[in-house]
Amino acid sequence: DLKRREVVRMIREQLPPPVRELFEDFGRTADALGLKVFAVGGFVRDLLLDEPNLDLDIVVEGDGIAFAEAFARDHECRVRSHEKFGTAVIVFPDDFKVDVASTRVEYYLEPAALPTVETASLKLDLYRRDFTINTLAIVLNHGSFGELLDFFGGLRDLREKAIRVLHNLSFVEDPTRVFRAVRFEQRLGFDIGKQTEHLIRSAVRMGFLDRIGGPRLLNEIIHILEEVRPFPAMARLEELDLVKFLHPALKIGEETGAVFERATRALHWYELLYTGKPCSEWVVYFLCLIRDLDADAFQGICERLGIPGRLHPLFTEQRHLAQGVLQRFQAFARRKMKRPRNSEIYQWLLPLDTEVLLYLMARLESEEARSWISVFVTRLRDQKPLLSGEDLKVLGVPPGPLYREILEQLLLRRLDGEVVTREQEIDLVQRKYMKNVHSSGLPQSRN
Ligand code: CTP
Repeated sequence: DLKRREVVRMIREQLPPPVRELFEDFGRTADALGLKVFAVGGFVRDLLLDEPNLDLDIVVEGDGIAFAEAFARDHECRVRSHEKFGTAVIVFPDDFKVDVASTRVEYYLEPAALPTVETASLKLDLYRRDFTINTLAIVLNHGSFGELLDFFGGLRDLREKAIRVLHNLSFVEDPTRVFRAVRFEQRLGFDIGKQTEHLIRSAVRMGFLDRIGGPRLLNEIIHILEEVRPFPAMARLEELDLVKFLHPALKIGEETGAVFERATRALHWYELLYTGKPCSEWVVYFLCLIRDLDADAFQGICERLGIPGRLHPLFTEQRHLAQGVLQRFQAFARRKMKRPRNSEIYQWLLPLDTEVLLYLMARLESEEARSWISVFVTRLRDQKPLLSGEDLKVLGVPPGPLYREILEQLLLRRLDGEVVTREQEIDLVQRKYMKNVHSSGLPQSRN
């Protein structure tokens, strides 16, 4: 078994010093209150696997809210508590957060029972969790700091690289765990245990997965699509015949693999640009996933998953525009036509959000066509003409809708390299738009 000092060594070697100190402070607060406090769940799993994870989940045997509030009296932090669930979030000034839960919740239902100080209530709490590898706990109290509690064979399953549920009703209690099982399996390079896979297949057969509400299902899909490598998990969902719960017409095949691969590269490229403009990774992969669905199927999947309204324009109008761009780009690339002009690329791509642009990069097999998008993002998208509206006024352009058109023309000419200097822009304005200004006061010709 893993000895206490080995766990202490892992804590020392893997965690940044402030987190280690935090653990000791938690232990001290708990000691002062006569409570037991544990680090639990995914954090412990990843500590033992030497995987980075600073999502701290703390369980207090007893009243977690009282614990968090006592801690906050002696430390610089705030507490947000949720009385109904007996949970609290400790928020530090740098916005680092720690979740605190109470094991006492069930005792509120039974006023006669006194809060227990045994580890029995912790065990009960952990028993409600999804997989054995997520049920490990580490004691943070001073006297037994670093002691590993393993009630359900979590350590064995970490060593055997197995995803196993704790009991046969796990997927019935919470069918979203089916998706979690696949996600952990693929992320960690584990295998879903035989019996657990059998339970997944029966949950599917018995229709439990149809009962997952849209937002919860979407949430699981988002989690999968935000993994470092989402494709293996999607392929595994297909293998377990789970993709049909998103939409019966959805299929994950080899082409999806290639498209996802290019999406990963595009996202990586974009990340390294440090534009400061955020990009939602799951949206890019989701667009890749639904790339071949017709309008009806698309509508169906949006309804099933309860896609939030703010994403509707992106998933409808922009997706439609992207389809047109894709065809044009593919035609250019296939027929070896001269590349589109920068001004054309600009006008086609301007209405598209970054997510849709990266989706397009994922769809394009031609490296050259992909470069048109990268040029747009890095060099075209943020260009402006040198002249401003103010300058046009000084030049004597009469106020009106013409300003907009002139500024747009200046920009498009600039993108195509036809004007470079300020003087060239002024010259263009005078030649094209101001020929008749002096005779009539208004420009007559736009040619
Ligand atoms: N949990 C569960 N059933 C769920 C969701 C969560 O039993 N449907 C439990 C898991 O045991 C998990 C804990 O709640 O350890 C916290 O959930 P979450 O933060 O989603 O899990 P992590 O294991 O931290 O996952 P990740 O590494 O992806 O953050």
